[in-house]
Amino acid sequence: MATAIRTPFFSPTTTTRSPSSQNQPLLRLHFPHSSKPKFSISCSSQSQSQSQSQPQSQPEPLRQRPPYIPNHIPDSSYVRIFDTTLRDGEQSPGASMTSKEKLDIARQLAKLGVDIIEAGFPAASKDDFEAVKMIATEVGNAVDENGYVPVICGLSRCNEKDIQRAWDAVKHAKRPRVHTFIATSSIHMEYKLRMTREQVIEKARSMVAFARSLGCQDVEFSPEDAGRSDREFLYQILGEVIKAGATTLNIPDTVGITMPSEFGKLIADIKANTPGVENVIISTHCQNDLGLSTANTIEGARAGARQLEVTINGIGERAGNASLEEVVMALKCGGHIFNNLHTGINTRHIYMTSKMVEEYSGLQLQPHKALVGANAFAHESGIHQDGMLKHKGTYEIISPEDIGLERTNEAGIVLGKLSGRHAMRKRLEELGYELKDDQVESLFWRFKAVAEQKKRITDADLRALVSDEVFQAEPIWKLADIQVTCGTLGLSTATVKLVGDDGSTHVACSVGTGPVDSAYKAVDLIVKEPATLLEYSMVAVTEGIDAIATTRVLIRGESNHASTHTLTGESVQRTFSGTGAGMDVVVSSVKAYIAAINKMLSFKETPSAEKIPVNASNVS
Ligand code: KIV
Repeated sequence: MATAIRTPFFSPTTTTRSPSSQNQPLLRLHFPHSSKPKFSISCSSQSQSQSQSQPQSQPEPLRQRPPYIPNHIPDSSYVRIFDTTLRDGEQSPGASMTSKEKLDIARQLAKLGVDIIEAGFPAASKDDFEAVKMIATEVGNAVDENGYVPVICGLSRCNEKDIQRAWDAVKHAKRPRVHTFIATSSIHMEYKLRMTREQVIEKARSMVAFARSLGCQDVEFSPEDAGRSDREFLYQILGEVIKAGATTLNIPDTVGITMPSEFGKLIADIKANTPGVENVIISTHCQNDLGLSTANTIEGARAGARQLEVTINGIGERAGNASLEEVVMALKCGGHIFNNLHTGINTRHIYMTSKMVEEYSGLQLQPHKALVGANAFAHESGIHQDGMLKHKGTYEIISPEDIGLERTNEAGIVLGKLSGRHAMRKRLEELGYELKDDQVESLFWRFKAVAEQKKRITDADLRALVSDEVFQAEPIWKLADIQVTCGTLGLSTATVKLVGDDGSTHVACSVGTGPVDSAYKAVDLIVKEPATLLEYSMVAVTEGIDAIATTRVLIRGESNHASTHTLTGESVQRTFSGTGAGMDVVVSSVKAYIAAINKMLSFKETPSAEKIPVNASNVS
């Protein structure tokens, strides 16, 4: 029997979620169906909460999305939402996604109605290039009945090779955009770029002009680390790139250091002092190092920014970015102080988009995350529950339905082994999942198998099954069978049978320190792609001995799977997450491991000869 070697030693821990951290509101109240006009939202202001009429949602007049012109918005109170989940979000450690996952997310972002999708950094790797190109081709041409189609944007550093690569990826879209950036703070210019101010201006100017010369009519420029850049220098470089043809100027607080009032003033100063600024759109990009990204973004909008860069769930580099859901809902709720700024976001798709990004990125939400966390609409204390029963406006400023989270099982359906497809699908729709027929079909058989063993299928069980069946990378390897022996009497042993994408079956067995370790080693013997297990966690999604266990793992390949880091230009070893669910903890664990391996195997890196470092050697 062959034995695989794995270091470091790993011992999984299992935790059971307390009821308060499950994905369900704790207080489950039954309310009648409310009419659901498009885009209707109510934020419970003081006057509304004094009124006793329920439910809270009040239809708002539908406000139109203005026609898309790169450097001008015909409606001065319209704010463009630029989503960078697939670029800055994917830069979060462990958040690597496959091309198919990125395409699914891009489609969902289009449903949500974002104006611009930053689909990736095409020069980072072959994989990133192909994903951006596929999104540009498919999502970037799916014009809806109102003429809406998202702009598809690709990021590039300020060099011809990157810009050409970004253009080659996005040009397939109906509305392509190239976004190029160079650092403008003294610390970045001196230590990272080793360039003078004059060189930086010339580089920015010539590269924006180069992007325009390729035929790109929509060019965004970002002075990286603008929050710490000299103001006069900013006005100068921004004025130059406007002359060179930039249509959007994005102002990043790259290290998340500015205070909200400071960031608002930065935007106002740029609007007041940059020559030619009336011909471009000003944008914000706020990192969350001090937890101020949403506040800064909102202050930017108040000061005149009309494009806001955000990510779903606030994922991103380090502490992340401003979160789309927070920014959009804050603009809605603060309409009275923001002169009724409005966006084109259909907020009822927020919850589903958040879940999809959570599953695909492997970055789990904290239960108390604003709006989309498991506890965001849960009311546990007696006083709060009493208030809620008397009037929802006492403790809820937004109704969960407005972000696509149904409060109750309105049809009163209890799911169990006698339930049919229709009932399961209805409940999934109520939970915000819109699945295709084939997805419902495969989910239904999993549902039936679980229902045979469990009396009642809860919402948490359904969510776990959806993430295991639907939110998965393309299967290269699939688990067919597994058999383990473990205990105190001998070595833990696992026999694993996997099916490859060509239909061939492979069997291996291994010993290990426990059943999961031996099973993972057996998988390694078949897959033959060395990986290090970085994280392993398991939660039981409901209480009780018959709970479904969801496992999440994070792995790093031991050879290749590198890409170029957007900001530093360094080669980074990607990490890949995977999830699995099942009533058997070992099966759940092995599925998660295989899911992560499938992601890793589908990643294509760029040959090292084609990589460009970030420093003065790129100046010429
Ligand atoms: O944080 C940052 O500065 C960026 C830019 C590339 C916009 O991500």
